[in-house]
Amino acid sequence: MSEAQTLPQFSVLPRHVGFIMDGNGRWAKKRGLPRSEGHKAGAKNFRKIGEYAADLGIEYVTFYAFSTENWKRPDEEVNALMELFSEYLNEVIDRIGENEEKGIHLKFIGDKNGLSDELLNLMDYTEKLTEDKKKVTLNIAINYGGRHEIACGVKEIARKVSKGELSPEDIDENLISDFLYTKGQPDPDLIIRPSGEYRLSNFLTWQGAYSELWFSDILWPDFSTDDFNEALRAFEHRHRRFGGI
Ligand code: IPE
Ligand code: IPE
Ligand code: MG
Repeated sequence: MSEAQTLPQFSVLPRHVGFIMDGNGRWAKKRGLPRSEGHKAGAKNFRKIGEYAADLGIEYVTFYAFSTENWKRPDEEVNALMELFSEYLNEVIDRIGENEEKGIHLKFIGDKNGLSDELLNLMDYTEKLTEDKKKVTLNIAINYGGRHEIACGVKEIARKVSKGELSPEDIDENLISDFLYTKGQPDPDLIIRPSGEYRLSNFLTWQGAYSELWFSDILWPDFSTDDFNEALRAFEHRHRRFGGI
């Protein structure tokens, strides 16, 4: 998208940025449109911001697309969202050349249980298709919940302990991190939530312990590259102490 020479320069860039893509429904409502149109606009913006993050050279970007709690929504809305995920993945497959150029590795985080076979096949295929791309890892959180992720990880650790493959003494923070979907990835340095809500809504609960947070009233479909730059400028001036002085 952007020409390399027009990209802004930052004195420090986060290695990992998380986005809570919220506000699609309100964006549609403001325009008298059905909520599904808001999701469509949100999905379009996800492509734009994801590509921009790759252009900037941010190594890891995580987009929260569907939470374990979002199943509470009407079937019609859930189905429209699932349809959009499939459309996006088919598009990625069609435009694989562009992703190759940008070096984007797509990865899905979240519980695969509950997703349709069709969607799971597409997820698996696009993950494999892009797995040797090393420049940017773009995580899409689908059927993701931070607490659920920790519970699943703990269950797996308990199984290994009961089989004698691990001892309780082996359990430390690093080991728990290795049993999460983001194994091997740095924790998010910056989490961005538009839409005027000031909460994390179960996003990267473990990994976000020391993340810098940036909130804005803009609804996700309107969140622009300028807004992203503003968040990155704010990040440049954060003083991260991690409990030190
Ligand atoms: C975020 O937009 C998308 C998902 C949660 C899937 P919302 O659909 O939550 O939009 P609002 O918060 O109702 O405006
Ligand atoms: C968070 O948005 C989940 C995603 C963006 C996928 P929600 O709209 O579900 O969050 P709450 O319900 O306002 O906390
Ligand atoms: Mg919402």
